[in-house]
This record gives sequence, structure tokens and C-alpha cells, in this order.
Amino acid sequence: LRVVVIGFGSVGQAFLRMISEGGVSSSGLWIHPRVVAVADSGGAVVDEKGLNPREVLEVKRREGSVAADPVHGRPGLTGLELLRDVEAEVLVEVTPTNIRDGEPGLSHVREALRRRFHVVTTNKGPLALALPALMELAEYNGVQLRFSGTVGGGTPILDLGREGLFGNRIEGVRGILNGTTNYILTRMAEAGLPLDEALREAQALGYAEADPSYDLEGLDSACKLVIIANWVMRMESSLGDVKVEGISDVTLDQVRRAEAEGMRVKLVASAVEGRLEVKPELVSRRDPMCVDGTLNAVTYRAEPAGEVTVIGRGAGGSETASAIIRDLAKIRMEAAKLIA
Ligand SMILES: NC(=O)c1ccc[n+]([C@@H]2O[C@H](COP(=O)([O-])OP(=O)(O)OC[C@H]3O[C@@H](n4cnc5c(N)ncnc54)[C@H](OP(=O)(O)O)[C@@H]3O)[C@@H](O)[C@H]2O)c1
Repeated sequence: LRVVVIGFGSVGQAFLRMISEGGVSSSGLWIHPRVVAVADSGGAVVDEKGLNPREVLEVKRREGSVAADPVHGRPGLTGLELLRDVEAEVLVEVTPTNIRDGEPGLSHVREALRRRFHVVTTNKGPLALALPALMELAEYNGVQLRFSGTVGGGTPILDLGREGLFGNRIEGVRGILNGTTNYILTRMAEAGLPLDEALREAQALGYAEADPSYDLEGLDSACKLVIIANWVMRMESSLGDVKVEGISDVTLDQVRRAEAEGMRVKLVASAVEGRLEVKPELVSRRDPMCVDGTLNAVTYRAEPAGEVTVIGRGAGGSETASAIIRDLAKIRMEAAKLIA
């Protein structure tokens, strides 16, 4: 598989580190992605014979941009120009999430699908805004769009709902989909910290961004909920369909009262009876979904299997890169089926 990587931050670099040994095994299936181009905000590095991942990582570390590579560097080349220029089978799109207009990821994904590249992405923006249209574009062009890392990092939340529970009707889903807010609410409950202090702690530990509003206002959870709704429940929806309330108004007093009754205040994302909602809710401490710290958890209500819960780390560069490997392995398997 010839792969183009656009975006080279924590996830993109973890992906290249994972494949720098020459190949990776995904549940026993070896895949050998050949990275032919990598782009960041400074430009790109391109070699259609295949780049050396270790050299690309070293140039990024030393110079700040992959485009500084003395032989194959293309300073100023944009992701779109790169996609129009290069021959490959797969785009790995890992630029920052932007929920206003999905850019630059949305244009990258569209262009790649039009060029009949398969796309693997962990970027929620394009999907939260336009997943049904992108799936249609992929289908029209006979290629795959995969995004298992967009929800739950390396935890296979989407795969469990879509494939693991195959044969069931998914009647509803409830989950804790944002590690930052879950860490804050946990520290409020367990250490008695007010929200602003718990937030400062989360920022100091690198769990929250300098501008935490996207997490705190529930938008990150809402994006993930839209992806679950489309992919697992086959509800054609986008971000505008979600009723969203974040945790900014949750008080220490509310958290303490919940605690006294054996409950926790959690930011819960739910899709039940066609309604998509994100809001703080009381969750029993005995509910398997009631996880603490930065963990994520999702409970599917499946008929006839019953309630099935998956719990795991919701983020992290390497964790999320493992989801990219999983998606690439699936693309390879599907492609092999077509050839056979
Ligand atoms: N990190 C996680 O745990 C995690 C988990 C799940 C999903 N995600 C999602 O995965 C994506 C990547 O996350 P990340 O943590 O790797 O982000 P990140 O560390 O901020 O890296 C983003 C990368 O995109 C590059 N970039 C920005 N604008 C660009 C443009 N116009 N053209 C080409 N490259 C551009 C940046 O370039 P420079 O290096 O030059 O600044 C940087 O290399 C995001 O959408 C994020 O929401 C992340």
C-alpha cells in the first residue's frame, strides 16, 4: 500500500514510528505500508519510491517541518497540491479537527476520494459535518473511508457497534466520549476541587487544551456521537442535529450531592429513539459505564444481545495510531477480497 500522510503531529508521528520497523502486524496480518509523502503545515516531503520513516521523523524533530528534508523536501506544498500530484492508494488524514467548516481536512478527504484513494482519518471535523456525503462519494468512487480512531482513540468503539454486534438491532447508545471533561468531573468528585481548579490541573497534565471550550461545551462529545449515530445506527445526521450542553455550569455542590447518593455527574452522549443529546447526567456508580479519569466508555443497547459496554483510553498518539493500522489492515483485506 502506498500511503500519503497529511498532518504530522502526535498521531501522524506515532503512526510513522509504528511502521518504521518495516511492517506492522495487526492481529497476525502483516501489512507493509510504503509512505510516499508526508505533509505538515510547512510543506511536504515526497518520494514515490518510498520514504524512510526514521529520516522523516528526525527531520521533523530537528527542523520543525518535514519540508526541510534536503533531498525530497517541498517547502510550501499544500496538502491539496500534494494529493493532485502524487500516486498512492491511501490517504491518512490527521490534521487538526475544525468543526466550523471541517478544513483543511474536508478538502483533503474529498480530493483523495475523487482521486480514488482509500482514506483513513482520525479527524472528526469532516465527518461530524458531512459523513453521509463523504460515504456516498467513497462508494461512488469504489474506495473505502475508514475512521475508527475518531471515537475512543485506540478503543474499538465504532467497530464493536458496527461489526462486533452484527446480527443485533442497536436500539440505543450512551457513552462518556470525552476524557478531558471526565477527568475534571472525576477530580471534582474525588478531590473536592471546584471546576476551574480541576480544569487548571487537567491543563497542567496536558489533558486539556489552552482553549478548553471545545471539550467543556460538549462539542467534542457531540462530534463523536454524530459519527456513532451515522456509522453504527445508520442515522443520517450531522452536528446541527445534536442538542448540546457542556459541563461549565456543573457546581461542586451538585457533584457532592450526587456522590452522597451513590451517583456521579458525567457528561453523557446519547442516541436514543432518534434523539441525539450531550449533557451532564447523574450516573449510578454501579453502572459499568461510570468510568473515572480520562477513560471513555460506551454502552450499546442491542436487541437481542442486551447491554454491551466497552471501556478504554480515549486518546493518545500511539493509541490512536493503532486505530489507523487497524483501518489499513481492513482496507488491505477488503482489497484482497476484490482481487480474489
Ligand atoms: N491526539 C489524540 O489523542 C487524538 C485522538 C483521537 C483523534 N485525534 C484527532 O487526530 C487528528 C490529529 O491529532 P494530533 O494530536 O496528531 O494533532 P496535532 O498534534 O495538533 O497535529 C496536527 C498536525 O497537522 C498539521 N497541519 C495543520 N494544518 C495543516 C495543513 N493545512 N496542511 C497540512 N498539515 C497541517 C500540523 O502541522 P505542524 O506540525 O506544522 O504544526 C501538525 O503536524 C486531530 O484531528 C485530532 O482531533 C487525536
